[in-house]
Order: sequence, then structure tokens, then C-alpha cells
Amino acid sequence: MSDDAILILDGQQYQFPVHEGTEGERAIDIQDLRARTGHITLDPGYGNTGSCQSAITFIDGEQGILRYRGIPIEQFEQAPNFVEVAWLLIFGHLPSPEEYRLFSAQLTANANLDESMKHHFEGFPRSAPPMAILSAMINALSCFHPEYFELEGEDHFRAAAAGLISKIRTIAAYAYRHSVGQPYIYPDPSLRYVPNFLHMLFSQPYAEHECAPEVRDAINLILLLHADHEQNCSTSTVRMVGSSQANLFASCAAGVCALWGPLHGGANVAVLDMLEQIHKGRISPEDYVRLAKDRDSKVRLMGFGHRVYKNFDPRARMLGKVAERLLPILGVKDPLLDIARKLEEIALEDPYFVDRKLYPNVDFYSGIIMRAIGIPTNMFTVMFSIGRLPGWIAHWWEQSQTQGNKIARPRQIYVGPEATDHVPKDERA
Ligand code: CMC
Repeated sequence: MSDDAILILDGQQYQFPVHEGTEGERAIDIQDLRARTGHITLDPGYGNTGSCQSAITFIDGEQGILRYRGIPIEQFEQAPNFVEVAWLLIFGHLPSPEEYRLFSAQLTANANLDESMKHHFEGFPRSAPPMAILSAMINALSCFHPEYFELEGEDHFRAAAAGLISKIRTIAAYAYRHSVGQPYIYPDPSLRYVPNFLHMLFSQPYAEHECAPEVRDAINLILLLHADHEQNCSTSTVRMVGSSQANLFASCAAGVCALWGPLHGGANVAVLDMLEQIHKGRISPEDYVRLAKDRDSKVRLMGFGHRVYKNFDPRARMLGKVAERLLPILGVKDPLLDIARKLEEIALEDPYFVDRKLYPNVDFYSGIIMRAIGIPTNMFTVMFSIGRLPGWIAHWWEQSQTQGNKIARPRQIYVGPEATDHVPKDERA
């Protein structure tokens, strides 16, 4: 039996090769479809389009499986270490102790921003959304590091990646400090990745922030659970921008913009807004679920549903457990957690959600945890960006190392007016 796919079009038969991935997923290779048949495929939202072959992350949405470089996501739960996962995603294997030590040292050495970059923050209004600042500043960062415009070899790339992964924390913290009118706090080289970030976010010149180990672990877990999710909207954006050979910083700045939207990373803010609306408006979870099912209401149950997962998002399960554990440790009693649990309970039994296979996603509980830690709501999507950055970098690098890589340039079916003549201004009705 042939492995090829057969297409019959206008009475003619065409054969196309079928590729199979490591886990048995299959794709019809249509790279020469248009050249041979004159037709293109139409797939709005790209739900059936494989844009690349990638060795970074595997998702089985039907079974709720997520693996980074083959390792099931649950295996990072016991000793969550975001830096280790960043390395794994980018370089393809867990770092040896020496690789880890060197990479950590690179992160520490790169934590500071050029002093004149601080003035850029002053140019933004206090009320500027931190995601806007983050994207602009990642782009601005490239101007301070022209040595990374063109990367020659893996060592050079590693230095650029370490610089970006380290500095995104500082940019994020400074964006927040600017928004609340507080002085910027310099990174502390004696602190690890997450405690250093929380130090820049929360310390005062007269009072050091202390990071409890439970908080450190929770943030490490949140960041690493967001670290990659194969060809999602922001990662595909990074790949698309990178395909034009735009530099790493510009490509990742574009990723931040894509992540900002409420159907993607912005959903973690939208979940909190929704829970607060339910709480303040004294809406019953039952009524809200009813509203979310009503097409005319335009309301969705935020933090529910996923393009790929048609089962529980494993990240949501893990974060649900963290919320359960951490809030009592922090002495936080949050009514929003009770509302979230109730919404989940109702939706998981409701035929509307069951039939459409809509389950809680990664954004459903992450906001409640961050809020308990004291991270302001408008920083939630920034946290997602810090977490997703290693994934963006890994994909950008994988693509740039792929032989025969082409600029991404989809086609379209034109449905506008047929050819028509230009009418001079004074002859128009
Ligand atoms: N609440 C109510 N109905 C929903 C929801 C929801 N959260 N999600 C999907 N549906 C319905 C939708 O109305 C449609 O119904 P019908 O078949 O009757 O028209 C059906 O389910 C399929 O929805 P879709 O919009 O065609 O599915 P999609 O794969 O294009 O969208 C999604 C996926 C994540 C954008 C969507 O589920 C959604 O808007 N969820 C809420 C936002 C959210 O939580 N986003 C975070 C996603 S995970 C993290 C990330 O990617 O950044």
C-alpha cells in the first residue's frame, strides 16, 4: 500500500507524500500543490495546517499530553526550575551541571539594562499597558546590542538568548515600577532567576523583599508551564517574523504583541476580570455559565477551551493544585478561587461544554495564584511572556537552523471587486 495521498481534481489524479511524526501524527505534504494543480488550500485559523516540522514540544490534545523535548510536563512539578527548562527547550537536552552553571552565570551577568534605557520608560504614560512597554523595550534592547543582529554559531546565539531571557525580567519589573511611580531596583547578582525578579518587582530602597520558597517554586512552575506550546499564535508570529531573517529581538517583540490578545495570553487577565465581575456583581456561577452558552451574549467562559486540547489541559490541573496548596500557606482566602472552582464544576458537567470538549486551560488558575502572591493583574500577561520567551527563542533558532527555510508567505482567495478603472477625484459622485 502506498503511503501517498491521492487527490482527484478536475478528473486528474495527483499523488502527494505523507509524512509521519515521532508520535504517529500524519501530514499530507502539499508543498508543490499549486505548482502542479493550480489550486491552493484554504484553512482560516490554520487549524489543519502544519507550518513546520519541529522537535521541541509535543502535544496530544485528545489525551491531554504535553511534553518538552520528550519529557512529560508533570515531571517538572516536584522541583520546578525555569532556567533548566529554558535550556532544555532551546538546546534540546537537560543541561549538565557545568552547562547549567555557565548558563546561570550568563543570566546573572546580563541582568542589568544599559543605564540610558531607563529613560525610555519615562517616555511612557504611567497608565501604559505593561505589554506595550515590554514589546517596545525588547525592540529597543536590540539597538543597545547590535552585536546580536547577526548570530554566528551556537555560542553567539547562546549569549544573545541568555541576554534576552535575563533582561526581559528587568524590563518587566521596570515597566511595573514606572506604572506605580516607584524607583527602579537594580538586579541583585546573589539571587536566582525568580527571586531576583521578585526583588526588582517588590523591594524598596529601604526594604528588601523576601521570597518564600513556596512562592519561588510557584512562580518557577508558572513560568515553566508557559515556556512552550508548539505552534501557538505568538510562537507562529515569532517564526513568521523570523522567517524574513529579522533578528531574534525583533521577532520576540512581535511575539509579545501576539500574546497580548485576550484569546491568547491576555486570557489570564480576562479570567480575573471575569471572576471579579461575578464576585462584585453578585452573579451566580450558574447564571454566568448560562450567559457564556448564549451566543447572543458574546460572553465566553474565559480560561476555558483550547484550539488543541480537547481534554483537560495538563497545565491547568497542575496550577489548580498549586492554588489549592499555596493560598492557605500565604494566608490568603480568595473568594475568586471559590468562584473559579464552582464555574469549573458546573461547566464540566454541562452538555454545552462537554459536547464541545471545553476544559479549563492554563489561564484558568494562574491568575489566582499570581494575585495571591501580590502580582498586579496588568502584569499577568507579562509573566506569561517571560515564561514563553524560551519557547520563542527555541523556535526562532530551530527555524534559522533548518536547511531550505523559506520566508513565510501564505496565499489567499481574493473575493474583492473585479478589475475596475480609477476615477479622477472631480469626476466622482
Ligand atoms: N466559552 C463558551 N463557549 C466557548 C468557549 C468558551 N470559553 N470556547 C469555545 N466555545 C464554543 C464556541 O462558541 C464554539 O461554539 P459553536 O460550535 O456553537 O460555534 C465552539 O466552542 C468552538 O469554539 P471556537 O472559538 O471555534 O474554538 P477555537 O479553537 O477557535 O478557539 C479558544 C479556542 C481558546 C480561542 C476559545 O476556546 C476561547 O475563546 N476560549 C476563551 C479564551 C481563553 O481562555 N483563551 C486562552 C487559551 S489557552 C492559552 C493561550 O493559548 O494563550
